[in-house]
Amino acid sequence: MNSSRITAADPNALHTLYEAHLAEQQRRTEHALRRGGFDALLIASGIEKFAFLDDRPYVFQPNPHFKLWVPLVRHPDSWLVIRPGHKPRLVYVQPEDYWHVPPEAPSGFWVEHFELIVVRKAEEALPYLQLPGNLAIVGEADAALGDIIPNNPPEVLNPLHYARAVKTGYELLRLREASALGAKAHLASQRAFRDGLSEAGIHRAYLESCGLAERDLPYGNIVALNEHAAVLHYQYQDERAPAQSLSLLVDAGAHSCGYASDITRTTGNGDAAFQALIDAMDAAQLRLVDQVRAGVDYRDIHLASHREIAGVLRQLGIVKMDEEAMLAQGVTSAFLPHGIGHLLGLQVHDIGGFMAGEDGGTIAKPQGHPYLRLTRVLQPGMVVTIEPGLYFIPMLLEKLRATPAAASVDWALVKHLSAFGGVRIEDDVACREAGAPENLTRDAFAALA
Ligand code: GLY
Ligand code: MN
Ligand code: MN
Repeated sequence: MNSSRITAADPNALHTLYEAHLAEQQRRTEHALRRGGFDALLIASGIEKFAFLDDRPYVFQPNPHFKLWVPLVRHPDSWLVIRPGHKPRLVYVQPEDYWHVPPEAPSGFWVEHFELIVVRKAEEALPYLQLPGNLAIVGEADAALGDIIPNNPPEVLNPLHYARAVKTGYELLRLREASALGAKAHLASQRAFRDGLSEAGIHRAYLESCGLAERDLPYGNIVALNEHAAVLHYQYQDERAPAQSLSLLVDAGAHSCGYASDITRTTGNGDAAFQALIDAMDAAQLRLVDQVRAGVDYRDIHLASHREIAGVLRQLGIVKMDEEAMLAQGVTSAFLPHGIGHLLGLQVHDIGGFMAGEDGGTIAKPQGHPYLRLTRVLQPGMVVTIEPGLYFIPMLLEKLRATPAAASVDWALVKHLSAFGGVRIEDDVACREAGAPENLTRDAFAALA
């Protein structure tokens, strides 16, 4: 089935995809339990956590193992029980609580696939978890309930984490939905930029467009005007607009049923030099996306991104140096000081990016590239981000100034472009069996055009 044409509005197709997704998770889990010598897998959704000495809860972050099975993200204290040859059991905690909105009665496309047990108190889950045999219990330590204490056996977790990099058709559907929602909101953020809004105002335009509250985002939106775009994980949003809005970098995603998108776009104000940089980076990004193919070592895409940056620096006259010499002298790392991307799924930085195999082990990062988050060989069904950037980061430029390469830098152009902060372009990309990859993000923008 070509799942790329299926939407959640097509209930039969959704049902078929979800059924196949669960069958695959069941297969992976039975395999992992066998390898580890366990009889059942228990998964805690997690507990709500509170500020120290206070009664204010943090935003609940469900255990990704839990939301792999069920599209539930606001459900602390619930549990899953997975056993070979059994329908998965969901112990669903629906407290009687007039202080908060408790989870609704379970309903939806997923319900029929579970042995559903609804309880009113977290403790009441215990008898449904106390099974005979050797139990693999996945969760944080604070999710412990009576004698059900998370042990997180690596023999079980490693094969599950390794396998999770390859998405099912159902997961691809959710990731496409997350990209569609994010793309729509990015367009709204660009309109807000052109209207001269502040970072906080642009952020609010983003939220309004995707219909998500701040607490429902997969990560804190990065909304950066001007020099703030040079701060890789800029964490504030100024309420006051700058005197002149030169550039906007938004790194923001959305969620669909627990699956994330992670999208970055950079917009200029029409300045020719900065627009030339955006255009060059866009072309380079697309060439890197095209390398997301089965059998490709992701580290090679990262290394290729530095060759692309060298090309952009030379082409735009920012650094007048031979590209090979730029690479040899580490010049590109002053402008691109992060990895080319990572696995994406239930977590924005999905787990398992360095795993050598299902028994664990680590695939090393290339020497001199400490921030790369994915070192595996790509397989069909893996979803990764491709997010090259080129920034004018004062701290790194100062270091570059102290090297022999400084003589080849057009510092006047660097000064001009520094006011724009930098450029990052990030798409979510699925590796296919053969041929060119699926670009979830570009497809989503194209559908909106
Ligand atoms: N939004 C964080 C990242 O791009 O990895
Ligand atoms: Mn990313
Ligand atoms: Mn991002």
